[in-house]
Amino acid sequence: MSTDNKKLTGKVAIITGGASGIGEATARLFAEQGALMVVIADIQDELGQQVATSIGASKCSYRHCDVTEEEQVKSVVEWTVQNFGQLDIMFSNAGVVSTSTQTILDLDLSAFDRLYAVNARGTATCVKHAALAMVEGRVRGSIVCAASVVATMAGSKWTDYVMSKHAVLGLVKSASRQLGVHGIRVNCVSPYGVATPLALAAYGRRVEEMEDMYAANMSLEGVVLKARHVADAVLFLASSDSDLVTGHDLVVDGGFRIK
Ligand SMILES: NC(=O)c1ccc[n+]([C@@H]2O[C@H](COP(=O)([O-])OP(=O)(O)OC[C@H]3O[C@@H](n4cnc5c(N)ncnc54)[C@H](O)[C@@H]3O)[C@@H](O)[C@H]2O)c1
Repeated sequence: MSTDNKKLTGKVAIITGGASGIGEATARLFAEQGALMVVIADIQDELGQQVATSIGASKCSYRHCDVTEEEQVKSVVEWTVQNFGQLDIMFSNAGVVSTSTQTILDLDLSAFDRLYAVNARGTATCVKHAALAMVEGRVRGSIVCAASVVATMAGSKWTDYVMSKHAVLGLVKSASRQLGVHGIRVNCVSPYGVATPLALAAYGRRVEEMEDMYAANMSLEGVVLKARHVADAVLFLASSDSDLVTGHDLVVDGGFRIK
């Protein structure tokens, strides 16, 4: 039980895709909230190392981990348990978007496979190995996955991305049902648009243009959705504030979908 007012005191977390965007904001927030160790697992080694160093070596470590490689995911989970005692939180956040439009009529299946290997298969791999470590360590852990508003919507393009996020939702629902017996919670967070490198690559626009476009589509006036808003939702799902919440899709969209 925590004796301060921080929400993650003593907790050990892995964040995949933590070198950038939503993952980076979440790594910073977890460290601020008293996590014993936040392990950033990413493929951008230089950037990931820089983020970990800026958070502080006593609170954050960087490990190279390509989520498309099961051995690398297994290895980062094992390294974390060996070095910090247990795994309490997995934020499976690594994701990519195809740079071509990927409508059904021009679907590039090689690009589809590459995207699926990260967004769908990679997320399942992270949930699997986090859950195995939690079951073995008898940890009533929290697993959070990055889905998206498009996990429950149609897409006019990026069919592969939309499909992969629907798959994440199916994974979260199934895993939460299967892992409840071990006291492990599994949820996802579903942001609308945040002007991260992933979103900029998809649209080929500048940050300000992206934020204006997204803001115009939200019901809430006068707000800009930032990575930190998504991190706040992840913190809720990761912490004991959501002790009775599992199998849930927490949408962070400024009212985009209710328009
Ligand atoms: N930005 C948005 O508008 C938005 C909206 C909804 C959902 N999301 C989801 O949020 C998550 C984070 O995206 P972001 O917007 O912060 O993007 P980002 O590009 O800033 O960060 C994604 C991170 O994932 C890492 N990554 C990519 N492939 C990887 C792999 N094979 N193994 C390990 N790491 C890998 C990248 O190196 C990068 O650091 C993604 O799953 C994305 O689909 C983003």
